[in-house]
Amino acid sequence: MQIAAAPAHLAQPRHLATPPAPNAVRAAHHPGLARAGALSAAGVFFSALSRRRKLAARRAEGEQVVTPWEVEAGEDGVDYDKLIETFGCQPITSEQIERIERLTGKRPHRFLRRGLFFSHRDLDELLNAYEKGEAFYIYTGRGPSSESLHLGHLVPFLFTKWLQEAFDVPLVIELTDDEKFLFKKDLTIEESRRLAWENAKDIIACGFDPKKTFIFRDSDYIQQLYPVTLQIQKRISLRTAQNTFGFDPADNIGKVAFAAVQASPAFSIAFPDFLEPGRRCFVPQAIDQDPYFRLCRRVAEDLKWPKPACIHSKFLPALQGHQTKMSASVASTALYMTDTEKKLRKKINKHAFSGGGKTEEEQREHGANLDVDVSYQYLKIWLEDDEELERIGEDYAAGKLLTGEVKKRLGDVVSEIVREHQEDSDVLFFGTELEINESFFLQARARIEDATVERFMDPAREELRSSFAKKLATEAA
Ligand code: TRP
Repeated sequence: MQIAAAPAHLAQPRHLATPPAPNAVRAAHHPGLARAGALSAAGVFFSALSRRRKLAARRAEGEQVVTPWEVEAGEDGVDYDKLIETFGCQPITSEQIERIERLTGKRPHRFLRRGLFFSHRDLDELLNAYEKGEAFYIYTGRGPSSESLHLGHLVPFLFTKWLQEAFDVPLVIELTDDEKFLFKKDLTIEESRRLAWENAKDIIACGFDPKKTFIFRDSDYIQQLYPVTLQIQKRISLRTAQNTFGFDPADNIGKVAFAAVQASPAFSIAFPDFLEPGRRCFVPQAIDQDPYFRLCRRVAEDLKWPKPACIHSKFLPALQGHQTKMSASVASTALYMTDTEKKLRKKINKHAFSGGGKTEEEQREHGANLDVDVSYQYLKIWLEDDEELERIGEDYAAGKLLTGEVKKRLGDVVSEIVREHQEDSDVLFFGTELEINESFFLQARARIEDATVERFMDPAREELRSSFAKKLATEAA
């Protein structure tokens, strides 16, 4: 597999040219909070076994299981209220959304208005500091597990882009090629690095401003991360990692240590080229990533470093229904950015789970159950117009609209998002004048060259330093 040629600072270390890791035994994972209590090595072993049994029992009872590696919901989909309770985070309130609008002068993104981002940690603390003129930076990431992105993958990045623009703050994006290598049995390092490189293009195609955005692969940037990672590793016991993630004694030790790698970018000292030490961090993420940041925040407290604030999204349901999430590995569950318009419409018509009546008569008489209707749920995420969404919801619930009509509208909206832009359009992808939105995606993706990826991945760029230096100067003024 060819890996794109990289400049000196991205050069692949020689030791990375190693064969794939030996078998990683599949772990039983546990979303529970880390618990205290002295356990011997044998104790850890047995507690893993009993945790596995408990997990199996919960599954058998149809209970939900949400970890960074798997999402399994009960009959009625993921119970997000319960997740907030189990994880110990806070629901986002309408007051907080209004406050974000006041502070940024920007209309909150529909993902926020419609509750797709629903939970947080320390959002008020972050906003209080921002209000007093203290800038933060944003950190998010992606595990490069697949070649092409589906609509669900775009959610955190489109939202992150909105946050970055609204608050005008620096952004760092971690590509965890190391994580995927450690957790996927047959993935080689070379392939994981290549996927990360390709995914960087997908992410760049969302329209991030290169002057304010640094993207890195862990296997490239680890030298800078390492001093921070070490501090974190030293403060996470095997017991705590075990209790937070439910590792199996047969798991490779890289998995255990990886938690500290994902925590490291949450501290600005990991980016000495362009961030000053002690800058607060804000982490948009899907709720399944919360266990990492629970640990990270505990360590921050120990080290007296600023604790990162978090904002969590729900999952995008699979086309087949909200019991599970869109999966990159099950093609029929997901709408890909690379699907043709015809294919998108076909998938929606064939697979999108309907909450409508079984027959036209039934639908006319009883209406649809919007909560389980996937087409409506997708419209809620992708249709920008609040009034139209409300009208569709009312009419569909009242039986005035049929499922086919709602699916047709969803087909329009989704095609618009992924549609290739006209050949003759004078869109200048990196022209800053242009508001780049989702519909530019495919066209934008095709235009991104390796040189652009290299630019985003260079931490020592003058443009990064200077755009924040300016910002700091205006803050000081
Ligand atoms: N572990 C994440 C994944 O598998 C990737 C990731 C790394 C991430 N750092 C992050 C996600 C910070 C959210 C926030 O997708």
